[in-house]
Amino acid sequence: MPIVAATKESIAPAAEALVNGEMVAFPTETVYGLGANALDAAAVTKVFACKERPRFNPLIVHVLGLDQAQSYAAVNETARKLAERFWPGPLSLVLPRKRNCAIADLVTAGLNTVALRAPNHPVARALLETAKLPIAAPSANRSGRVSPTTAAHVEAELGELPAMILDGGPCKLGLESTVLGIEGDQVTLLRLGALSRQEIDNVLGRKLALHGGGGKVSSPGQLSIHYAPATPLRLEARTPRGGEAFLAFGPHAPLYAGPMINLSEQGDLSEATNKFFAALRSLDAIGATAIAVMPIPNQGLGEAINDRLQRAAQARLSSPASRFDDARTTAPKRPSEATLDAMVRIVGEDHAIREPAAMAPYLVEWRDRYVGRAALVLKPASAAEVAAILKRANETRTDIVPQGGNTGLVGGQIPFESGHEVVVSLSRMTHVRDIDLNGNTMTVEAGLVLANAQAVAASAGRLFPLSLASEGSCQIGGVLATNAGGTAVLAYGSARDLTLGLEVVLADGRVWNGLKRLRKDNSGYDLKDLFIGSEGTLGIITAAVLRLLPKPAEIVTAFAGLSHLESAAAFFTRAYALAGPMLTAFELLPRIGLDFALKHGADTRDPLHSAHPWYVLFELSSQRDDGEVARLAEMLLSEGIEAKEIDDAVIAASLAQRRELWRLRELMSEVQKHEGGSIKHDVAVPVARMPEFIARANQLVELMIPGARPVPFGHLGDGNIHYNVSQPPSMDRAVFLANWEALNAAVHEIVLDLDGSISAEHGIGRLKRDLLRHAKQPLELEMMRKIKNAFDPYGILNPGKLL
Ligand code: TXA
Ligand code: MG
Repeated sequence: MPIVAATKESIAPAAEALVNGEMVAFPTETVYGLGANALDAAAVTKVFACKERPRFNPLIVHVLGLDQAQSYAAVNETARKLAERFWPGPLSLVLPRKRNCAIADLVTAGLNTVALRAPNHPVARALLETAKLPIAAPSANRSGRVSPTTAAHVEAELGELPAMILDGGPCKLGLESTVLGIEGDQVTLLRLGALSRQEIDNVLGRKLALHGGGGKVSSPGQLSIHYAPATPLRLEARTPRGGEAFLAFGPHAPLYAGPMINLSEQGDLSEATNKFFAALRSLDAIGATAIAVMPIPNQGLGEAINDRLQRAAQARLSSPASRFDDARTTAPKRPSEATLDAMVRIVGEDHAIREPAAMAPYLVEWRDRYVGRAALVLKPASAAEVAAILKRANETRTDIVPQGGNTGLVGGQIPFESGHEVVVSLSRMTHVRDIDLNGNTMTVEAGLVLANAQAVAASAGRLFPLSLASEGSCQIGGVLATNAGGTAVLAYGSARDLTLGLEVVLADGRVWNGLKRLRKDNSGYDLKDLFIGSEGTLGIITAAVLRLLPKPAEIVTAFAGLSHLESAAAFFTRAYALAGPMLTAFELLPRIGLDFALKHGADTRDPLHSAHPWYVLFELSSQRDDGEVARLAEMLLSEGIEAKEIDDAVIAASLAQRRELWRLRELMSEVQKHEGGSIKHDVAVPVARMPEFIARANQLVELMIPGARPVPFGHLGDGNIHYNVSQPPSMDRAVFLANWEALNAAVHEIVLDLDGSISAEHGIGRLKRDLLRHAKQPLELEMMRKIKNAFDPYGILNPGKLL
C-alpha cells in the first residue's frame, strides 16, 4: 500500500526513493504532486509514462526558494519581486533556463524556459530539504483528469505506480498554482490558479493580460485537453435536470433530490476553490448523464474556477472511450471451425486464406498504423457469394470487415487485433456490367480499381472524373463506402454526387438491387445515399451505376508560386469568378512538400526557376477545342501577377508536362514517409478561413513539438486541407508519433472553432471514431445509431468503426 502518513519518519525514505530515481506523490498547499528527481531524465520519464502525459507538456520544478531557483533559471527584477512577495506559495514562474541548467531536458520538454515553484506545505518543504534535489512534479492525476486534493485521490488515479504516496491530509487551497511567464519586464498569465490575478496586479502595479486570446496557445497546459471529468458538464445551469448531478454555489442554490454538492453555501470563493476538484471528482464518479454547474462569479478566485470549468466542458475532443451503447451487446468471439469451413466452401478453397502469413497484406494498413488479425480472408466472386457469407455471419454473429483496395486512411478496412473477424475482400468482383452512352452511365462491380473505371470511361469517349492519389489501387466499392473526394470534387462533386444506383448485400444476406440509372428519382428516402459513406457498417456494396461526363476536349494545367497563403485564397476567388465551372481543380502545396517531392520522388524537377513559400496547381477544362481555356488561363495568370497574388507561374505545354505537375501534387503524402513519422489530419474549413487555420495550427505544432514540420496541402478550392506534420529530423520516430492523439485533439479544436469538419474526405473509420461524438450533435448521433440498428441489428458489419 503506497499511502504512508507524512511524518518525520516517513520523509527520509521518501527522499531516498526520489534520490534513487523513483516517484513519490506528495501534498502541496495547491494539489498533490507526482514528484521525481528533476535532474534525472530516467526518473522524469516515469512520470510522463505514469501520467500518460504527452511529452511536449513540460513539468513544474519544485524548489525551496529563490536561491535554489537561481541555479537553474535567470531571475530578473520582476521575477524576484514576485517571488519575494508570493514564495513560498501558489505561484509558478516560467523563467529562461540558464545555459548550464542541470535540469533534464525532458522536464521542460525541450523549451528554453523552466517553470519553478516554491510550495508552502510543510511536507513538500521537508521533502525538498531532505532530498536536496529540485523535484519535478505535475499534479498527481492521469493526463486529462482533474487534479487530486487528497492522498486517496492520488491512489485512485495512480494506484501502486508511485513508490510512495505521502499523506498530508487534504490540500488547503485545492486548485493548482497560478502560472506566470516572465520575459524581461513582460509578465503573462499562462494559467489562472490559486493566486488571484488582483493580488499579482497589486504587486506589479498594473493589470495582467491573460495570455492565449485569439486561439494562441503559449503554455501547453492551456490546451483544454486538461481538467476533464468523464461526465459531460453543463455550465451556467441554474436548475438541474433529472439524471444530472448538480454542482451548486451560494445561498440561493435550488433544492435538488439528486446528487448535489454546494461548493460554498455562504458564496465564499475561497471555500469553493478549496472544494472544487474534490467535488468534481465525486460527482463524476456517480455516472450521471451530465454535471450541471451553477454560475460562479467570475472574479478573484472565481476566475480560476471558471477557467477550469470551461476547459473541462471543452475537453470534448480528448475523452477516451466512446460511452455510447454499441449495437452489439456481446463481446466478439471466435467463429467456430464449422462456420469458417462453411464460409470457405462458399467461395472455394482457392479464394479463401486461412494462413496468417498469407493473410498479411489484408491485415496491414499501408501506412503501418493499423495491423490487425483475422480468422479468415474471403474473396467472393459475386453478389450471391457475398450474400451467402453474410447470411451465415448474421446467423452465427460473426464479425465481418469489408475490404476494397486497402487504401483507406482511417483504418476502416483493417480488422481489430482479436483475430475473430472475417475479412471480405471484393477484389475479384471487377466486371463492367454495362455502359450506357445515351444515359451517360456505367454499371461496374465493387472490386473494379478506380483507375480502370476511369480508363473504361475514357475508352467509351467519356469522363469518369473522380480522381485520387490512390486511384491505381483503390476500388469503386471502397470509394463509395467512404464517399471519397479527391482533386475533382471542385467541379464534379464527391463519390456520392457521381452515383445513381447501387447493389448492396444487407447484413442478413438479402440483396438489394438498386441499380437504377435515373438522374431524377424522387420516390421516397434515398436509400443509396445511406450506404454511400457508411464505411461498411450498413451493408456491402457489390455494384454501382456511376455517372459519366463528356470528355473535356481541352485541358490547361498551370502551376503558380506564391509568397503568401492569404493570396492563395484571393487567387482562388479570382479563378472561380473568371472560369466558373471550367475551373476543374485548385490544389495547394507548400514549399516543404515540393522539397520532399524533389528529394524523394524519382524524375521530379522544380517547375519554376526560384523557390516560393506556397504553390497552387490548377486546371481549366472545356468541352470545346477552341483555345478558350488557354486564353482564360493566361488572362488569369497575368491578372494574378498584376494583383500580386501570385509571383510566377508556368502552364503545362504538353501532356507529359501536365502529368509531371500533377505528380508533384500526388507525391505529397507518399514522400513524407521518407522524412520519418508523420501525424495526419484530413480537415475542412470554410475556404476563406484556410489561411487562419494553417497559421493557428502551425503555431500550435511549434509549441507542442518544437522543430516538427507542418506540410499542409490539399484541395484549397474545397477548403479541404491535409494538415500533415512531419517529425523533427532528429527526433525518435516513436517518440514523435506518441503525440498523435494529443496533436489531433488540439488541431481539431481549432477546426471546430473555425466551423470546420474533422473529416473532410477520408471518413471516420477507426481513427476518428471516438472523435465523432464530439463533432456531431447528440441528435445526429441518435439518428445514426437508429439507422445502424435497423440495418444491422446484431452489429456484425465492421463493428467498432465509424459509430
Ligand atoms: O499547483 C501546481 O502547480 C501543481 C503542484 C503539484 O505543484 N502542479 C501542477 O503541475 O499543476 P501540472 O504539470 O499539472 O501543470 C503545470 C502547467 C502545465 O500546464 C505546463 O504546461 C505548464 O505548467 N508549464 C510547465 N513548464 C512550462 C514552461 N516552461 N513554459 C510554459 N508552460 C509551462
Ligand atoms: Mg495538472
